[in-house]
Amino acid sequence: MRIAFIGDVYAEAGIQALEKFLPKVRNDHPHDILLINGENIADGLGIRRKDYKTLMSFGAHAVTLGNHAFSKRELFDFIDEANIVRPLNYPKDTPGEGLMRVRFNEQELVLLQIMGRIFMHDPLNNPFEALDEALESLEADAVIVDVHAETTSEKLALGHYLDGRVDAVVGTHTHVQTNDAMTLPKGTLYITDIGMTGAKYGILGADKDTALKKFTTGMPVRLRPQKTDIYQLGGVLIDTEKRSIENFHYSD
Ligand SMILES: [Fe+2]
Ligand SMILES: [Fe+2]
Repeated sequence: MRIAFIGDVYAEAGIQALEKFLPKVRNDHPHDILLINGENIADGLGIRRKDYKTLMSFGAHAVTLGNHAFSKRELFDFIDEANIVRPLNYPKDTPGEGLMRVRFNEQELVLLQIMGRIFMHDPLNNPFEALDEALESLEADAVIVDVHAETTSEKLALGHYLDGRVDAVVGTHTHVQTNDAMTLPKGTLYITDIGMTGAKYGILGADKDTALKKFTTGMPVRLRPQKTDIYQLGGVLIDTEKRSIENFHYSD
């Protein structure tokens, strides 16, 4: 199975970047399954029904979220019928699921998302224990885990914890692609972060002037998406048969 995973699509610029670069991804990195992180698609925070439909129209098989999962309350109305995976280690009464099955031909891929706890302010269960529980009697042809976390150390720790137990561990959330795509010692494919999709010259997708003001004045500001016509797209291709992982990045 060849799986392309596209990093956090941020606001309208993210949609424009998909429009522009996805044909190149399809051409340069042919894949059977397309996964997209969509936690920032609704003006930077969360996902609305129309955004979900947009991602599906690009051919996504499933959409993962993250700490901004429920920033748009509208998600509560459609998460149960959508191909959406939110972090597995939210409290048990949180709507939606942290695990989804994606079929391709006769094969079944299981997609999970787990969220780290360091510098994240959500009420999260222990990610290691949540993964143990989910993987205990799991059967699938391939298993891929989106690790949504702030620190490289926690992502690597989760990668090594899952080494030999899943096919791939793919990091999201920090929006800057890391240059460490590798096969871990027990065979799991790994990258710390696949990057983001949206404005090239914003600050992680947000308007750079507003974000700068926050740093220089220390005053609270409302971050808005960077308006631009200069784009980037970050992602990774995983081949579960060849056991290979390759990061890709496109930009203007
Ligand atoms: Fe994000
Ligand atoms: Fe995030």
